[in-house]
Amino acid sequence: MEPYRDPSKPVEERVSDLLRRMTLEEKIGQLCQYSGFTEEIEEAVKKGLVGSLLNVTGVENVNRVQELAVKGSRLGIPLLMGLDVIHGYKTIFPIPLAMASSWEPEVVRRAAEVAAREAAAEGIRWTFAPMVDIARDPRWGRIAEGFGEDPYLSSVMAWAAVKGFQGESFSPHPERVAACAKHYVAYGAAEGGRDYNTVDISERTLREVYMPPFKAAVAAGVATVMSAFNDLNGVPASGNEYTLKTVLKGEWGFRGFVVSDWNAIGELIVHGIAADGAEAAKLAISAGVDMDMVSDLYRRHLPDLVRSGVVPVEVIDEAVRRVLTVKFQLGLFENPYADPERAREIVKCREHLDIALEIARKCIVLLKNEGALPLRKDLKRVAVIGPLADDRDAPLGCWRALGDPNDAVTVLEGVKKKVSPATEVLYAKGCDVSSEDRSGFAEAVEVAERSDAVVLVVGEPAYMSGEAASRAYLDLPGVQEELVKAVWDAVKDAGIPVVEVVMSGRPLTIAWSAEHAPAILAAWHLGVRAGDALADVLFGDYNPGGKLPVTWPRTVGQVPIYYNHKRTGRPPAPDRFTSKYIDEDWRPLFPFGHGLSYTRFEYSNLRLEPERLEPGETLAVSLTVTNAGSREGDEVVQLYVRDLVASVTRPVKELKGFKRLTLKPGESRRVVFEVPSELLAFYDRAMRLTVEAGEYEVMVGSSSQDIRLRGGFRVTRTERFIASGRVSFTRALVL
Ligand code: NOJ
Repeated sequence: MEPYRDPSKPVEERVSDLLRRMTLEEKIGQLCQYSGFTEEIEEAVKKGLVGSLLNVTGVENVNRVQELAVKGSRLGIPLLMGLDVIHGYKTIFPIPLAMASSWEPEVVRRAAEVAAREAAAEGIRWTFAPMVDIARDPRWGRIAEGFGEDPYLSSVMAWAAVKGFQGESFSPHPERVAACAKHYVAYGAAEGGRDYNTVDISERTLREVYMPPFKAAVAAGVATVMSAFNDLNGVPASGNEYTLKTVLKGEWGFRGFVVSDWNAIGELIVHGIAADGAEAAKLAISAGVDMDMVSDLYRRHLPDLVRSGVVPVEVIDEAVRRVLTVKFQLGLFENPYADPERAREIVKCREHLDIALEIARKCIVLLKNEGALPLRKDLKRVAVIGPLADDRDAPLGCWRALGDPNDAVTVLEGVKKKVSPATEVLYAKGCDVSSEDRSGFAEAVEVAERSDAVVLVVGEPAYMSGEAASRAYLDLPGVQEELVKAVWDAVKDAGIPVVEVVMSGRPLTIAWSAEHAPAILAAWHLGVRAGDALADVLFGDYNPGGKLPVTWPRTVGQVPIYYNHKRTGRPPAPDRFTSKYIDEDWRPLFPFGHGLSYTRFEYSNLRLEPERLEPGETLAVSLTVTNAGSREGDEVVQLYVRDLVASVTRPVKELKGFKRLTLKPGESRRVVFEVPSELLAFYDRAMRLTVEAGEYEVMVGSSSQDIRLRGGFRVTRTERFIASGRVSFTRALVL
């Protein structure tokens, strides 16, 4: 047996052995990825000129193509089959922004684990997830795909997602897939929130806000990273030697491979930094982009660039090594094929669908409740109204892989299953999501008037967020707000409770509702079990405990708006000449970390230890949380820190720890956060990663604006760190 085929040999040895046997064309082939499957691609696969395919699905198709590579090509190198398995493969979970609202990393890990199990069973061994782009701008549609605005929350979730997809350690396992942290880097900072747009941010913001989740994914062992479309401070991310080589592969020691985003190498020409395909290929490979997603420029130009000495063959070898290493780590050489039997057994099995329900419940955020919720199950009549009330498509959200809308449970169905048999459930659509037609309002009003409670389901359809779905307005699309007003006007005097359920892939500007509707739920796009999860919350079988991972603005004019902003020299105050608007409140509609419950939580007895922190020490922040209401419920305890005086301006507060816990009525628990001192580090004036000596304020609360306890500590000495891939998290204990 050739050494590269011998699974008992170390991966490095297998890679070296294989590399020695490859022609230049075969090597470059490993760096090429194509979409779908055509006759031309088939020929290329047989010649060993393709390393990976994306968007080839179905066990039979995948196995057939794989066989061409394994049996039909000279060296029999298996293909890496990729797909965007973002929040589920066929069992669709809530969109990532919704999962971040759970503030429970285990939710993200579990969803990724199930998605990996299903995808791998059907031969997909690589997912282009997690998307870990920080987003401070809800106009940007891709905010739906990530974990929100906060670098710490996103880093914890990025770690969890990688572990879920790849397993605790990345080693051959038939139920695991290689993950891909994307879009490296700062893609979410697109000017004006317009997708693919230019990014121009400071090095400090880049490193403190946009890079941390990527660094966390790398520390978690992510197998691949995707280079983004955007240009960053003048250099496109897919030709950026600094971000890819200096930081990712250098400082952080990333050992996997980098794949470009779709045709991002070709777009280097459009960006205007390459004159032609050859130059684009040269720039990308030299910058550290190992695999070319679909531009075909590596295949067309790298052979000549190497032969003419422009690109050293060592650069190619290095990239091929990285790609082959991932293939060996996945066990593809030993097990290249999917097992149709197993796929039939596990894909969309009962267990997975139940996990989808459990997860969906945890992602719902109760934005407002003046006592309308929970509803009673024995009402005489309940009206379910709105364009998304009986819609199967919206719950699946953007990027639903092979999800099927027919599997989704609508809110109307969920409510019908939930109420007592004597309860009549009335339905009226009212209007379409985004048309101007108001002809359905009369029916909606009539149905509402005849009911004892109204559930209004409004918001965005699935594809109003995700890629290329930037919006200039953040209102409920079409005439939906008018529908809400019409229904509310008709029933308000009768005291009929109205509950607004907002489905969306982003924060929406629903200031009118926030003022008038007695209760509002942020439902995001909750996946296949959306209707069941929402019915559980509406009727009190589940007490909502989600919190916003992103700020909800009052109006689009406030964007970008995020909780961890700087203080400015003139913080907002009644005086005119302070930082605010003359025509709108400067504060958000719903702040980061906000989310209510059907019970109440009290915070007490904050203790900080030690009060003088030495470099390398751990700060223990402990407090008591009590469920002071009469129902069991979940609270997310949030820990924020502020550096009071520093060499550079620091945010008004930064999340440094959080813990979701369940408390019975009357129950009290002690929560302890163990914060490693390096979590206080930031980039100083000389861009050195530093924890500065001085006073710090600690804030603990139920949201970034609902701070319940405050304390302080002192860092005794300044501590500097050398650049590395080290990532630390706060440990949260519940005693
Ligand atoms: C383009 C998107 O930006 C990226 O997120 C996705 O993974 C690729 N297309 C592949 O579908």
